[in-house]
Amino acid sequence: MSWRDFPKVELHLHLEGAAPPAFIRGMAAEKNEDLSGIFTEDGSYVYRDFWHFLDVYAAAASVLQTPEDFHRLTRAVFAVSAANGVVFCETFLSPDFCGGRDVGAWKDYLAAIRAAADEAEREDGITLRGVVTAIRHFGPDKARETAICAAETAGDWLVGFGLAGDERSGEPQNFAWAFDCAREAGLGITVHAGEWRGPESVRNALEVTPSRLGHGVRAIEDPGLVELLAEEGIVLEVCPGSNVTLGVYPSLSAHPIAKLREAGVPVTISTDDPPFFQTTMSQEFEGLDQTFGWSEEDFDALNATALKAAFCDETTRTRVAKRLERP
Ligand code: ADE
Ligand code: ZN
Repeated sequence: MSWRDFPKVELHLHLEGAAPPAFIRGMAAEKNEDLSGIFTEDGSYVYRDFWHFLDVYAAAASVLQTPEDFHRLTRAVFAVSAANGVVFCETFLSPDFCGGRDVGAWKDYLAAIRAAADEAEREDGITLRGVVTAIRHFGPDKARETAICAAETAGDWLVGFGLAGDERSGEPQNFAWAFDCAREAGLGITVHAGEWRGPESVRNALEVTPSRLGHGVRAIEDPGLVELLAEEGIVLEVCPGSNVTLGVYPSLSAHPIAKLREAGVPVTISTDDPPFFQTTMSQEFEGLDQTFGWSEEDFDALNATALKAAFCDETTRTRVAKRLERP
């Protein structure tokens, strides 16, 4: 069955990582930048492994230079999401790529992204909220500046703060100042963990008291931790296609999402950086249906878990819940 028209809630999508390659090629041409090394002959992104992916990601993002560029990017990305049935998405935004973490510049970029989000809501029927993410391998000092950008713009649209990037470059506790700053500004907290490192990275991430974890799937290697996540209701933003394409698991059938769910861990489904992993939310749903036999009722439950875990306000949650109702 095609899951394209089934309504979907997505919690984990990096805005620059969702840039269609043709969009980035077009931007590069407009700015006379040579990005040919990051594309295959057929025009897809090319990278060797996760760490090279992070470099290619940064190279692609380097042609996004003005608030207007991010306005265009936001429209392009969420036209694709809406065409795949996504009715609500919390998108990860990086002040690192939007004015180099300068608060004044960041406000201009955010205003452009929000204007595009309003247009996407009106014209494409998708509701968006933003989650600022610091980039772990840029270090705690830059994360502090990023958190200040987030805190200065926290509100009804900018609703969360997270940590992405290379998990091997430092524990979340090293970023405690940034997390405290964001939490004090009322932002929800999510941390990438348990993707490239094992269960100890998930336990360490819990020290900064997130309500959600980006990935978190390698918690499966520690049954006590799985029990803890289930008891505490820590929500996993699971990105199965990303994990399989990057080689965290050899196939979807070897992916632990179904086991985590059976153990009572709240799991949700996202695409992470869809064009890099040749995926869409429709394809994620199709793969999970084919591999684990998940039904409409299963996906209703997964959407409900995601909406409950969203950092948005209650009015928005109620409005989106109506969009998820099916005849
Ligand atoms: N940034 C973009 N995608 C990411 C991923 N899968 N893990 C960590 N950082 C990221
Ligand atoms: Zn991610």
